[in-house]
Amino acid sequence: MSASRAVAPQPSPKERRRPPGPKGRFLLGSLPDFARDVLGFFTECIREHGDFVRFRIPGYEIFILHRPEDIETVLLTQRANFIKHRFFWRHVTAIFGNGLLTSEGEFWLRQRRLAAPAFHPDRIAAYGDVMVRFADRFAAGRRDGEIRDLHPDMMRLTMEIVSKTLFDVEIEEEIDEIGRSFDLVIREIARRFRRPFKIADAIPTPGNLRYRRGVARLEKLVRRILRDRADRPGDRGDLLSMLLEARDDEGRPMSEKQLRDELITLFLAGHETTAITLSWTFFLLARHPQVQERLGREVLAAADARPFRAADLPRLPFAEAVIKEALRLYPPAYVIGREALQDCIVGDYAIPAGATIYLSPWVLHRDGRWFDEPERFRPERWLDGSTAHLPKYVYIPFGGGPRICVGERFAMMEAILVLATIRRRFGFEIAGPDPVPFPSITLRPDGGPIMKVVAEPKTTAS
Ligand code: HEM
Repeated sequence: MSASRAVAPQPSPKERRRPPGPKGRFLLGSLPDFARDVLGFFTECIREHGDFVRFRIPGYEIFILHRPEDIETVLLTQRANFIKHRFFWRHVTAIFGNGLLTSEGEFWLRQRRLAAPAFHPDRIAAYGDVMVRFADRFAAGRRDGEIRDLHPDMMRLTMEIVSKTLFDVEIEEEIDEIGRSFDLVIREIARRFRRPFKIADAIPTPGNLRYRRGVARLEKLVRRILRDRADRPGDRGDLLSMLLEARDDEGRPMSEKQLRDELITLFLAGHETTAITLSWTFFLLARHPQVQERLGREVLAAADARPFRAADLPRLPFAEAVIKEALRLYPPAYVIGREALQDCIVGDYAIPAGATIYLSPWVLHRDGRWFDEPERFRPERWLDGSTAHLPKYVYIPFGGGPRICVGERFAMMEAILVLATIRRRFGFEIAGPDPVPFPSITLRPDGGPIMKVVAEPKTTAS
């Protein structure tokens, strides 16, 4: 054999096969199916057509990638060719602007490096006490037998936590109003995703007006945070201090618009996803009384009379497994999207410049090839070794590659500490119809969960 092996000519992108996928309808392509039930549509696409699926909606050619190797290509190895995609983000630019979630390239990298110290493990450990204090206040205000719509409760709680930890402000008085505005914005965004065309934000349709009012309310909050800091200046070591002290190469501070974008991004990205995780978690626990009971035993054994602290996390492995399992079944980021800048090859297929790529944690996390009994809530799978050898990129609630969630550790710590603090005082029983997953920017529970607060929850399902 010769030392230099002949390299087989690679087929050009155009010569590669086109992946299979639903044919869709004349003009509208797959939009009606996509818009009616995006989770069902993704699941069906993978089941019917395999791990690399192509479909069209007006103006967009879309690929769903489901093989871990291909996901790694998009999120890591060829990441320079895959930016955050227009189809998704064009609907939300009025809120996020050019913040950390949406910016690109060198600018994004600079901002990410700026924010990173606020998410360093040592720094996050210091947030633990704030998380527990707010969770305990919520828990202390509950009484046995009370019926709660738990998701708004969790939204309020995580909003308070993110505002205090990252910006050092208390927002108790405005919280309901902010919550309502945010809800309006989210519902309008969900409507936009389902529409085959874009209506410019400037056109005063009722939906756009609601959206604008919601965004304006969030901007008012940002102004209040900045005013509050101007009244009490000084470095508090929080994220806001880092952003305010940052200077560019010419020594200029961040513009007001950029500060606004970063604050709104972190406020929104930093509370809704964790609230969703907690709401689904408590719902799943109430559905599975033995799991709720086991968690109760762990929590009572982990800390005596004192409040939990970040240092208690190693004593809460089952609580961590419960959160991971809730994130598996109900990943708040149910889809991660990118857009190809140039023609490229991913795995066996060609992807043209401009195409949209979707990776779906919702479908990946419920795939029986990776998870036994994938539809079952079984936190033990994270402790009994059965998930120890999962390929990378099949469990991706926080994404992957350099754009992985900057708040991953923050969120995990918050979710575990809040769960443990509340469970220590009481459990829940289901007191209403099951909530349904509502896909907007994230996967919120719609219609609850309506729960009964119980000091001694039942240990078997009724
Ligand atoms: C359970 C809770 C959370 C989940 C499931 C979650 C999920 C994600 C995912 C999947 C991404 C990547 C999106 C993509 O690649 O397109 C992301 C990015 C991001 N997350 Fe989270 N997140 C959570 C909590 C948080 C928290 C608590 C914060 C801040 C305090 C946060 C801030 C961000 C930011 C700023 C980004 C953009 C990062 C970048 O592009 O550099 N997230 N998150």
